[in-house]
Amino acid sequence: MPDFERRRGRLRHLLQKAGVGGLLVTNSTNVTYLTGFTGDDSYLLLTAGDAVLLSDFRFVEQLEQECPGLDVSIRKLGTEMSEAAAAAVRACKASRLGVEAASMSVDLFLRLSENLAEVEFVPTKHLVEQLREIKDRDEIAAIREAIAIAERALAVVRASLTPEQTEKEIASELENQIRRFGGSRCSFTPIVGVGPRGALPHATLSDRRMGESDFVLIDWGAVGSLYVSDLTRVLVTGKIPPKLEKIYSIVLRAQQAGIAAIKPGAVMQDVDAAARKVIEDAGYGKRFGHGLGHGIGLQVHELPRLAANQQRELKAGMVVTVEPGIYLPGWGGVRIEDDILVTRTGHEVLSSFPREFADCVLK
Ligand code: GLY
Ligand code: MN
Ligand code: MN
Repeated sequence: MPDFERRRGRLRHLLQKAGVGGLLVTNSTNVTYLTGFTGDDSYLLLTAGDAVLLSDFRFVEQLEQECPGLDVSIRKLGTEMSEAAAAAVRACKASRLGVEAASMSVDLFLRLSENLAEVEFVPTKHLVEQLREIKDRDEIAAIREAIAIAERALAVVRASLTPEQTEKEIASELENQIRRFGGSRCSFTPIVGVGPRGALPHATLSDRRMGESDFVLIDWGAVGSLYVSDLTRVLVTGKIPPKLEKIYSIVLRAQQAGIAAIKPGAVMQDVDAAARKVIEDAGYGKRFGHGLGHGIGLQVHELPRLAANQQRELKAGMVVTVEPGIYLPGWGGVRIEDDILVTRTGHEVLSSFPREFADCVLK
């Protein structure tokens, strides 16, 4: 079991530096990270001396199983969460309390502020998220597991792919195989873009069939033991379009350049730039309009971000995607996405689904 008390201790240190007496954690993923509780609609009130999870009847048994020993406050039937939160904040006696600006609703902020005039509520940003950026050994193992599940699932889908299958059917089959291999679910609705639909970086699923084009872009991932994977491959399902081979080789070189730049101390925007330069030099800079990558962990999009204007440095223990792409409206898109661990000496590519162009061609 992860050492949640240690995580909360590190957060308390950040709270002290921020000059607040505690934090009302309203982001459910942050609650999970700090307690192990995986339900929703529950908040954690963390102060220098205490941690209490505010929840309701539905989760009583789950709380006992997932976070034994943690103080829990179950609100009475008919008591709103905002009332329960106000009572807990009043009882903790903090005069300055941090709140999570990115997840707390304006409604809750106003209700607490109105009910507790004596408490100053201080908006904070990314306090827990910055702890979550650096993964420990168990978290890295869980990400490896999520990658292995996703890769096994795509291997099955790839081997059984037929021209009649639609984008929606491929997505369902991926989900099915992810569960079969021990995952709990997809880490997001898979993106399956046949031919020109691959030009939409986040295409929604349609009834287009695999046989309607010569290639398909698949962006998928699994949730294993809470932690996620996020991968993208292009599969050539028909005749090899010469243009595809050319675009693919540019994107693959860009990905290799981005991955090669990953090491502790590397500036995030420089990693983005290393990959972007390959695509720009090939004349497709305007067709790569998103960042190079993002952190993965309990969520599929978390800190850090590999993108322009990100002047922070990578640190050992971060796990990021590297996913350059070229999108040509009306023709299609190529994105290649892998999951990379920043190690103490450089990096390790955690994902291993074959990515050379020849590997993408279905025999
Ligand atoms: N699957 C969404 C992304 O690659 O960021
Ligand atoms: Mn993805
Ligand atoms: Mn991604």
